[in-house]
Amino acid sequence: MVRVILVAGARPNFMKIAPLMRAAESAGEIEYSLVHTGQHYDYEMSQAFFDDLGMGKPDYFLNAGSGSHAEQTASIMLEFEKVCLEYKPDWVLVVGDVNSTLACAIVSKKLHINVAHVEAGLRSFDRTMPEEINRLVTDSISDLCYVTERSGEQNLLKENHPQSRVHLVGHVMIDNLLYQMKILEQFDASAFAHAEDKPRVGPYAFMTLHRPANVDNASSLRSIVEAIGVVAEEMPVIFPVHPRTRKKIDQFGMVLPENIVQLPPLGFRESLWFWKDAQVVFTDSGGLQEETTALGIPCVTIRENTERPVTVEVGTNVLSGIATESILAAYEQAMEKRKNSGIPEKWDGKASERIWKILLDQHSKEV
Ligand code: UD1
Repeated sequence: MVRVILVAGARPNFMKIAPLMRAAESAGEIEYSLVHTGQHYDYEMSQAFFDDLGMGKPDYFLNAGSGSHAEQTASIMLEFEKVCLEYKPDWVLVVGDVNSTLACAIVSKKLHINVAHVEAGLRSFDRTMPEEINRLVTDSISDLCYVTERSGEQNLLKENHPQSRVHLVGHVMIDNLLYQMKILEQFDASAFAHAEDKPRVGPYAFMTLHRPANVDNASSLRSIVEAIGVVAEEMPVIFPVHPRTRKKIDQFGMVLPENIVQLPPLGFRESLWFWKDAQVVFTDSGGLQEETTALGIPCVTIRENTERPVTVEVGTNVLSGIATESILAAYEQAMEKRKNSGIPEKWDGKASERIWKILLDQHSKEV
């Protein structure tokens, strides 16, 4: 048996951990413990996802909460060290690029525990993004780097990671998406809290926005809202609002056009139910760039760069920056692009199985 701690802390982690839990159970030989750091804690940002994704209760809840980067990272580290000393895992598996990923990787390595990083190697080459720092540091101390796309492999090799530690496995996020799409087919959507807000006829758009670079500054946020206001003259824009963005809209005293339909943050399944039928998705999320590519939905990413270039090269994604005119131009481009987009290599719903197989092989070489 291999003892593994799985770390989940913030909303985008939960979708990646759920398929890994299922695959660990089918693989046998893996005894795992689920740690929730508490980086995200509101019902809509956390428990709603655990419920939708069928994750049960975490074995450890670290209650880290919000704070500055240093406060949040430090508070996760202090609590996670105690868990490692008690559980004594052979491996700690971290996913993505949030503060919980970084904090738990550092603690593990200093206790001489092997670290596996799922979604390694992605680089925006923008070191003002907190996630870029989290990615660089986590990869630099990981024993196994699982990558989702070729660019991730190339970045790691350029940074002198040995090829033997780098594995292109596909994407656990897509494992989860394909699994949840099947569940949704059987699901009674009228049970969703905001079922009434999904337009029954005619096209609509879907938007998510939460990056500090887009929402923390009033002029950036206004420029984005102005562009989306133009789209909203054509069709309704469904907009579940992240808590960070909610605070900023209120703080800046902004009033959004009525046809931008503001909702509270949605659980995974309800959110998918909305965006899978959207004409176009506007976002600054990492995961949604990939999920829209997997389902062939046009996506405008409101950023200057992306650490997920395969979504632009192969998929439906178009980068727009934050200027009003460039968002509108990217929208036109994304609608055209839909026709000849494809699915990236190994995004086939089997990444989690590959991950455990590689980890078990690696473990057997070490003992
Ligand atoms: C974090 C991740 C980001 C990820 C995003 C998804 C880092 C550095 N950032 O950003 O990569 O894309 O999650 O959501 O790890 N808040 C609540 N309730 C919650 C959680 C947060 O109200 O349950 C509020 C708090 O006021 C907090 C703010 O949202 O200050 C931001 O939360 P935080 O976890 O610091 O960063 P995110 O912007 O969510």
